[in-house]
Amino acid sequence: MNNNSLIYAKNIRKNFHQGKKELPVLKGIDLQVQRGEALCILGSSGAGKSTLLHILGTLDTPSSGQVYFQGENLFLKTDDELASFRNKHLGFIFQFHHLLSEFTALENIMMPARIAGLSKAECQDRAKELIELMGLTDRSAHYPTEMSGGEKQRIAIARALMQSPDILLADEPTGNLDTANGNKIKDLFLDLQRRLNLTIIVITHDQNLARSFPRILQMKDGRWL
Ligand SMILES: Nc1ncnc2c1ncn2[C@@H]1O[C@H](COP(=O)(O)OP(=O)(O)OP(=O)(O)O)[C@@H](O)[C@H]1O
Ligand SMILES: [Mg+2]
Repeated sequence: MNNNSLIYAKNIRKNFHQGKKELPVLKGIDLQVQRGEALCILGSSGAGKSTLLHILGTLDTPSSGQVYFQGENLFLKTDDELASFRNKHLGFIFQFHHLLSEFTALENIMMPARIAGLSKAECQDRAKELIELMGLTDRSAHYPTEMSGGEKQRIAIARALMQSPDILLADEPTGNLDTANGNKIKDLFLDLQRRLNLTIIVITHDQNLARSFPRILQMKDGRWL
């Protein structure tokens, strides 16, 4: 067994219960991801991609199997320990940005640090750096309804980077964008991976997005193809 990888998922199975029926959705997935890798998981709708990403991100538990982070078995942690693990080590990006509408762009970026207990003053500089990295300094005071789809997604990426995570987990990050904005987000991911040595796992059914990634795994019916 090699669990020196940044992430090592071993024989992950997930069944959903529908009344008396059991629906197997992940059927024994193994995955190793090294630090600094940019991985794209490609599969058609219903293949089990989001289910797997949620398990890798400890937002859901597998029916059986283990997920190790730097050799540590994550599902032995308590819920509180997992919440703080996610806050410290993982950044999530979803198809819909999930920005909080009553906060400005800059405040949304700060949110993970604020949740971790930092004051506004303590995290403002980092948030400003990130908004600049996204090229959106002039949108700092805009509320989510005052930004375009691509801008909101870049703010969501900045928010995911706020705590300097080890891994970015993205679920259809370009699903809601036109081709030009989708390409910008894709370039941004690959640039971040190179410059910050970030580990990135993106799931998508978009072959165009997948094509640029150095590592692609294809999933079908809860298994690797
Ligand atoms: N909570 C649940 N209860 C029952 N079935 C579920 C549940 N969540 C997902 N499923 C089923 O599991 C299968 C895989 O779902 P999942 O969301 O992982 O697919 P996906 O590959 O992300 O698809 P898409 O590209 O459409 O987002 C689907 O057939 C779905 O209906
Ligand atoms: Mg999905």
